[in-house]
Order: sequence, then structure tokens, then C-alpha cells
Amino acid sequence: MAFSETGKVWMNGKMVAWKDATIHVASHVIHYGSGVFEGIRAYDSTRGAHVFRLPEHMRRLADSCRVYRMEPPYSISELTDAVLETIRVNGYKSCYIRPLVYRGYLQLGVNPMPCPVDVAITVWEWDTPLGGDDARRSGVDVGVSSWTRIAPNTLPALAKSTANYANSALIKMQATVDGYAEGIALDESGVVSEGSGQNLFFVRDNVLYTPTLTSSILQGITRETILVLASDLGLEVREQPLPREFLYIADEAFFCGTAAEITPIRSIDKIAVGNGRRGPVTAALQDRFFGVINGDLPDEHNWLTPVGAAVATP
Ligand SMILES: Cc1ncc(COP(=O)(O)O)c(C=O)c1O
Repeated sequence: MAFSETGKVWMNGKMVAWKDATIHVASHVIHYGSGVFEGIRAYDSTRGAHVFRLPEHMRRLADSCRVYRMEPPYSISELTDAVLETIRVNGYKSCYIRPLVYRGYLQLGVNPMPCPVDVAITVWEWDTPLGGDDARRSGVDVGVSSWTRIAPNTLPALAKSTANYANSALIKMQATVDGYAEGIALDESGVVSEGSGQNLFFVRDNVLYTPTLTSSILQGITRETILVLASDLGLEVREQPLPREFLYIADEAFFCGTAAEITPIRSIDKIAVGNGRRGPVTAALQDRFFGVINGDLPDEHNWLTPVGAAVATP
């Protein structure tokens, strides 16, 4: 859905009206993909509005900046406060949060380093679940992409750079045109990597499998959340390279990510995953995940930052 175009955007320390939150067309980021960002969510709950895993997201933002030799003129603690302030100013209880650090306007040329490092934080209501409203229960149909994920030592997959999303867009567009909700990309060696904006998990014989960090994946914060929840549930987890054919023989499969949350996959390349329905392990992980987010289960791992609170340095 289109933006409502209301509210305020935090830009370099100032709250700016949505329509005034613009940059010059000669800004470096537009031409050379010289930006890094985060995708974070705030949820309303029985215990009030909170942000899910805010320190971990802000740490990843700092890591992405470091890889790209960007020094934002604000500390991570200041940016963390700014995220919470932006949510409060906009009056949201639940929303999607997009901090963006980018090379701004000064001159153009491939070297970004002369250009200023600017920061913006945009928040908006998230109403586009992967695969539609029912997908959390019924699952999505996906296909393996003919596009390969960014290869090691080309674009660094662990840095959440805007440039990486040119590859994601190719994967997503192909999936859309082919009638799938998402694509699954393989890495350059042909093993399973991830979706255009989601990590992947599989279940076979009650063991949870997920690709390793060396399979060109983003180190998802939801992925790490699943690893903790799996351990809480006493599930065996194997992080390992996964051959393509594993996709077709898994009992269960699901995407995870800030946007996708936990979305079951019911078919891959038109082959049913298991019996084509959400499986029991996926459902158990969803129950825990949404239970913590909704406030129905205790926040045992300190994953929730109240929107109203002042925050400590992560
Ligand atoms: C390429 C890619 N992989 C995985 C993920 C999932 O990461 P997270 O759980 O931190 O949202 C995302 C979402 O940000 C992504 O863009």
C-alpha cells in the first residue's frame, strides 16, 4: 500500500515533515548504492508498545557502516534514542522502522568517501504481510530463482547495504512474474542461500536446518531469534550448507525475517513441502515468537524495548 504521507521523518537530528524529507538527485547514494540500513519493527502488546530486538538491529547498522567505511555523526546510542523518539513523535504503537545511513550530496564519482554521511529514520505502518493475510497459517508458494545470490567477496552479504537489494529485486521480480510469493536464491556454489529479504529454515525428521553465514546470507536477527527459540524448545539445530535438493525433501520449510516474521512455505517449484501445510515445528516456533511479541509470553531473553523508555547504550 502507498505511504499515507503524514507524520515526521528524523533527518540528521531534526524532525522533518514527511513531504519535506527529500534529498538532492545528485546525492551519491542514488547513483552508487552507497547506503546501509535496517528494517526493524515495533509491536503493540498487552504490555504496551515495544521495539523488537532494537539493540541488535542498531549493532548490525553499526557493523554495516564499518564495512563501508562510514562514520555517522551520531553514536549508536543517540540513533537508538532517535528511533524511539521518531516512533513516539509519529504516535505509532506498531510500525516498521527504517534507519538509513547514506552518502549524501557533495560531488559525484565512484569513491564515496568525500561525500557526507547522512542519516534518516523513517517509520510507517506495515500492512503488507508476505503472501497476504492468511500466509502465516496457510503458507506461501515459492520458486528457486535463476538469479544467484551475491557471491563472497563481491558485495558483503553481512552488511545490509542498499546495493545488495539490486540482487534481491531481481530475485523478487522474477518470483512475482512467475506467480510465486517469493524466490529462493542459491549461492554461487549452488547451495541454498536465502530469499530476497528473508532467511530460510527447514525441518527434516524433527531437526531444524538453516544455511550457514558462508552461504551468502544476511545474518538475520529473526534467524538468531529462531535459533534461541529452538533451543528453548529442545530442538536440534544444524547450521550447514544445504544442497538444492534438500528443498524438495524437507518435511517443513519457512521464511523468517523482520517483514516475513515466520512464514511457512507450502511448495517449492510446485513440489509440496511435506503435506503442503504448516508443520508442527513451524507452528510451535510461531507460537513462541508471536507469544513474546504479543506480550502473552514473558520476554525471557530481553528482546523488547519499550517505546516509551529512555534507552541504555547497547
Ligand atoms: C536479504 C535479507 N535476508 C534476511 C533478512 C532477515 O533479516 P532480519 O531477521 O534481521 O530482518 C532480511 C531482512 O532484513 C534481508 O533483507
